[in-house]
Amino acid sequence: MEQQYILALDQGTTSTRAILFDHDGHKVATAQKELPQIFRQSGWIEHDANVIWEHARQVMAEVVINANIKPYKVASIGITNQRETTVLWNRRTGEPIADAVVWQSKQSDIFANALKEQGLTQKVYDKTGLWIDSYFSATKIMWLLENVPGARELAAEGDLLFGTIDTWLLWKLTNGAVHATDYSNASRTMLFNIHDLQWDEELLALFDIPANILPEVRDSSGIFGYTAEFVFFGLQVPIAGIAGDQQAALFGHQAFKTGDVKNTFGTGSFIVMNTGEQPAISTHGLLTTIGYGLDGKVTYALEGSVFIAGAAIQWLRDGLQLIINAQETAEMADRSRENHPKRVYLVPAFTGLGAPYWDQNTRGAMFGLTRATGREDIVRATLESLAYQTKDVLDAMISDTQLDISTLVIDGGAAANDYLQRFLADLIATPISRPDQLETTALGVAYLAGLGVGYWDSVATLPNSDEVTVELPDEQHAEDMQVAYQGWQKAVEAARMFPLDVE
Ligand code: G3P
Repeated sequence: MEQQYILALDQGTTSTRAILFDHDGHKVATAQKELPQIFRQSGWIEHDANVIWEHARQVMAEVVINANIKPYKVASIGITNQRETTVLWNRRTGEPIADAVVWQSKQSDIFANALKEQGLTQKVYDKTGLWIDSYFSATKIMWLLENVPGARELAAEGDLLFGTIDTWLLWKLTNGAVHATDYSNASRTMLFNIHDLQWDEELLALFDIPANILPEVRDSSGIFGYTAEFVFFGLQVPIAGIAGDQQAALFGHQAFKTGDVKNTFGTGSFIVMNTGEQPAISTHGLLTTIGYGLDGKVTYALEGSVFIAGAAIQWLRDGLQLIINAQETAEMADRSRENHPKRVYLVPAFTGLGAPYWDQNTRGAMFGLTRATGREDIVRATLESLAYQTKDVLDAMISDTQLDISTLVIDGGAAANDYLQRFLADLIATPISRPDQLETTALGVAYLAGLGVGYWDSVATLPNSDEVTVELPDEQHAEDMQVAYQGWQKAVEAARMFPLDVE
């Protein structure tokens, strides 16, 4: 049979990428564009949804050119996306009514606080699996409806549409023919009842969000629609897989068994555990969410969302200018460990603390500074903070599920960092496995899009990732790690004593 390919469109917080995979699950080519961040006010982060769409079109074309294949050899397209980020647009003109409000953005904090003050926290969790926070789409929609002139009128006329980025791109790719999302993305809106698998009418009424702006919710795999002719080399290619990026990574690791858990180090760090056909209830600040919908069944997951991970390394590079690139950080941290055994702690709560704390008012702090502290120590503290935050979440997962974690699989940019991998294995006293091919998110949605058109027959026949590097914990470090983690817990406690409103 003539070789065909799956095109994964990975629309992340800082870039838009297209990656082409072959039948063995091998990456054949990539194309990428950086996404400009819009900072209109402190704490606000927005994206131009039209730029996202333009970039998506460009990278889809470029990846085909880079791979030097005929465009008709693309069997299907999958979309994976930064989740929660909210776009509202006019159905008639196809124009967004405002910039997209990004998941990290804080302009709807007051709406989230008001909902908490109304005593809705447990009700919202019981229905949606989410702890009220401005992170999720609901309060972002409320903010847009309130602040964009004419938004409510447009909704009343039936001309306003809401979507997370997957929905926006699907709508654009199909030239407005399909307004839909998948279960994994719907479960991040704080409007979707993850038990009934319906938009929740009671919450919509409480939040004053009109139901007519919401997309149809479907399985993550299956044909959503076809590219409009002017979009992709004049071809009508099926869009056959959609998943939020963290859930796509879970799928990409083939973490199909209950208790399988992965951590993706991107801008933030997202630890997701497959909990099977039943939702696991968290009493430790984790989110209950939908992993994916496949063959008419949903698989649930527990998630710990950590807001700042790779973003802290970017801050070292672009903000503090302590490093030139992320690659040098592992060696710097090794040198710090040799020269300055005494630790510095960084609590990177730059946009508040996510799981398991859910404290949107805490801000970042550094502890343990002396005159001997140098940039290598701060670099090391930053890498170690990624590991501590992972342990916070894994401990909560173990308490919630009583499941043992036999291995943690990791991916994403910072997963390539040897110092982090070693430190994390020691800290959580668990083997860490890292695929050599770190494009797990894109691979996950490629799997879904391939399954959706019969490119692969079933999950059992999906190709396995080739090579993995496994890091085993070193027992000799166990005691030191215990002390280190206690220090981290104290540092978090101290940082939380200075919330934002103390300024
Ligand atoms: O929930 C937000 C998450 O989906 C963003 O992922 O990879 O764009 O940082 P990323």
